[in-house]
Amino acid sequence: MGKIILTGDRPTGKLHLGHYVGSLKRRVELQNSGEYEKIFIMIADAQALTDNADNPEKVRQNIIEVALDYLSVGLDPTKSTLFIQSQIQELCELSFYYMNLVTVSRLQRNPTVKNEIIMRNFEASIPVGFFTYPISQAADITLFKATTVPVGEDQLPMIEQTKEIVHKFNSVYAPVLVEPDVLLPDNNACKRLPGTDGKAKMSKSLGNCIYLSDSADEVKKKVMSMYTDPEHLQVSDPGHIEGNTVFTYLDAFSRPEHFERYLPDYANLDELKAHYTRGGLGDVKVKKFLNNVLQEELEPIRQRRAEYEKDIPEIYNILKRGCDAAREVGAQTLSEVKSAMKINYFDDAELIKAQSEKYAK
Ligand code: TRP
Repeated sequence: MGKIILTGDRPTGKLHLGHYVGSLKRRVELQNSGEYEKIFIMIADAQALTDNADNPEKVRQNIIEVALDYLSVGLDPTKSTLFIQSQIQELCELSFYYMNLVTVSRLQRNPTVKNEIIMRNFEASIPVGFFTYPISQAADITLFKATTVPVGEDQLPMIEQTKEIVHKFNSVYAPVLVEPDVLLPDNNACKRLPGTDGKAKMSKSLGNCIYLSDSADEVKKKVMSMYTDPEHLQVSDPGHIEGNTVFTYLDAFSRPEHFERYLPDYANLDELKAHYTRGGLGDVKVKKFLNNVLQEELEPIRQRRAEYEKDIPEIYNILKRGCDAAREVGAQTLSEVKSAMKINYFDDAELIKAQSEKYAK
């Protein structure tokens, strides 16, 4: 059997550089590698509602934002199935059955959920849907028999839980489900890109994001006011690389050819870092370089976005076709699941025959 990818994002805002280096860029490479038989990219609106129950409009408005971001980075609807989670009813059914295979204490141990509960001030009253979203995420992955789940590091606990559910299901019922493998970003700086303020993560609520849809001017402004080394006050001062956001971004984005083009005095990032550490290299110069690097990466994305924005109804058509295709695959898996679980009464001629005989006596 060929390899199958499933991954996705919650539509709670526009996608930013953290999403881009953490997963979007990789998805496009994987899509174009030709190594995957099928690729499913899901807009996880049902999951977004688990902690936005009172704000459905936000989720609704962001479907198109995320779809535009997907298409503009180069996800191609002729190669990847782009779809919306809530439109696949099989996902709900599958989650419902998985709930029997997971304990409350196991869910409580999920470090990502633990963290998110604190971040959302849910400690006193956690919505059940939110608490159980790792189960629904296991359904997302397994309904499509995904072998490969390209995600950021924070999603590792979800994949672990998915594997456990697969094991349990396959051993209790029948070997229907496929155990997925996670595919993490290969560059360390890409695993968790900090916000422009140096905080651990880009997040809309912290206002420290560079969005894929930002204009060139907005990007430049954000780069020029980025957090660097607070002790690096004068150009001549020795600077620190570690924890210096500008260098973390360069780790994630810069390539030797960028130096040739924009900063030919240095052969590569190591030389630039060495100079900064020694002293004598100002932040402004490094930031200008980073701006050039980012603009080069973002310009084609911006151009593609502008094209797609001209025909919004067509974006909805793309998503609708994606949902139809996803539902077809989902229905097939669900039927296998139901027969493994022996809840396929009307398709089971053996069952009806055996019982007829029993009662004929
Ligand atoms: N939890 C993911 C996020 O917050 C979104 C998501 C939902 C997902 N279902 C998934 C990712 C299945 C990978 C596989 O970004």
